[in-house]
Amino acid sequence: MVAEKYVLALDQGTTSSRAIIFDKNGSVVSVANQEFPQIYPKPGWVEHDPIDILESQISVAKKAMRQADIEADQIVAIGITNQRETTIVWDKKTGKPIHNAIVWQCRRTADICEKLKQSEWGEKIKKKTGLVVDAYFSATKLKWILDNVPGAREKAKAGELLFGTVDSWLIWNLTGGKIHVTDFSNASRTMLFNIHNLKWDEELLELLEIPRQMLPEVLPSSYIYGYTVKEIFGVQIPIGSDAGDQQAALFGQLCCEPGMVKNTYGTGCFLLMNTGKTAVSSESGLLTTIAWSLDGKEVCYALEGSVFIAGAAIQWLRDGLRIIAKASDTEYMANSVADSGGIYFVPAFVGLGAPYWDMFARGTIVGITRGITREHIVRATLESIAYQTRDVLEAMEKDSKMKINTLRVDGGASVNNFLMQFQADILGIPVERPKVNETTALGAAYLAGLAVGFWENMDQIKQQWQLDKKFEPTLPEKERERLYAGWKKAVSRAMRWAEE
Ligand code: G3P
Repeated sequence: MVAEKYVLALDQGTTSSRAIIFDKNGSVVSVANQEFPQIYPKPGWVEHDPIDILESQISVAKKAMRQADIEADQIVAIGITNQRETTIVWDKKTGKPIHNAIVWQCRRTADICEKLKQSEWGEKIKKKTGLVVDAYFSATKLKWILDNVPGAREKAKAGELLFGTVDSWLIWNLTGGKIHVTDFSNASRTMLFNIHNLKWDEELLELLEIPRQMLPEVLPSSYIYGYTVKEIFGVQIPIGSDAGDQQAALFGQLCCEPGMVKNTYGTGCFLLMNTGKTAVSSESGLLTTIAWSLDGKEVCYALEGSVFIAGAAIQWLRDGLRIIAKASDTEYMANSVADSGGIYFVPAFVGLGAPYWDMFARGTIVGITRGITREHIVRATLESIAYQTRDVLEAMEKDSKMKINTLRVDGGASVNNFLMQFQADILGIPVERPKVNETTALGAAYLAGLAVGFWENMDQIKQQWQLDKKFEPTLPEKERERLYAGWKKAVSRAMRWAEE
């Protein structure tokens, strides 16, 4: 009997490393998950130990195989997807990181970014990289390491140090220190990559004093970069894909045509819209980014917007206000009242992103009367996630001049039926939730499977997308717009609150 074959996706996220094995139908066969320590050296600073990242990732990969009784030689390819922007610098000879990974959330370079943004570089960087200058991206994190670790810049100039986002770090280690690469989607999050000519930008490297030789080679997202060394899994397995996690989720949702959008409901929300061959420049503060490249000649672009606080607002109900015991309680509690009782909750705990961009906005609940109960507050919290999503989708439609016809959803809170129905109602378009919720890993698996011929082509893959539930809008337009107008009014009350 010929043993069944599978693809193994490694999903290296911000709080945990995950490994998911998929069969040829794109169904999940095994999942393993391991959290690893978050390091907060100072307020606003966030680091990871790159060794924790690597070891937890390898350990879950083995566990996923063990759990499902799958041998390493049944894995036809490994797909890599990762938390983006997080920056690692390591010694080429010893393989040792010279500093902890500086995580995407880390704000330590906010001052450098503020200065850059105010200068002529603000616009220039946006034009070249598609990004708004911010400490979020890798460029200033890498500069910080070179400026602050004694001797680092000299060593980097001498070609002794390597830089990589988490994907590069994993691939380099899995291939025994042979292959130093990244893909177009990850490169586009560094703020060092020109998304139009598809090259590392010499002018930006010079500006930030980053030696060119420490950067990885940029390759397609579906590609055989190399093979894992025998010592890890006992056999050599081809590494067939590399993509940033949000882009991988867009691919996993099979949002392959221009105008298709996915929303991942996590701590915050990440919304990505496929814009095809056009790098749409945003007027609303959205990011222009590379979704993927299948062949290295052409890239597919995306517009990206995020909602800072989504699931985090539900966590606050649980841990801060303590009016729910667990996140899943929110669904029946929200359904137990006819509406939010006229209140709005704007969860602007850390300011507001697109399209408001107000870092002084703060969380606000408006419209409270004597009859308001905790059920109303719970309902208003879920509704706020849907309203914020509409804010970003409207900005996407405006910038791209494309009409969004459906929203595909994934992530933790997408299981909440109340939220998904309200989302459809407030957008006035259907919301589609797929059967496979592991869309990020699935995207990485598809890209890897395509590289090794496990799946022949996109058509074969597209047939695999299966709907779990479609939420049709039922709210009359007038009511929808009345509710949304109330949200806008509430946002105006939350804005600029913390301004001196
Ligand atoms: O840009 C950051 C994003 O890639 C992080 O994703 O899922 O690890 O929180 P996640």
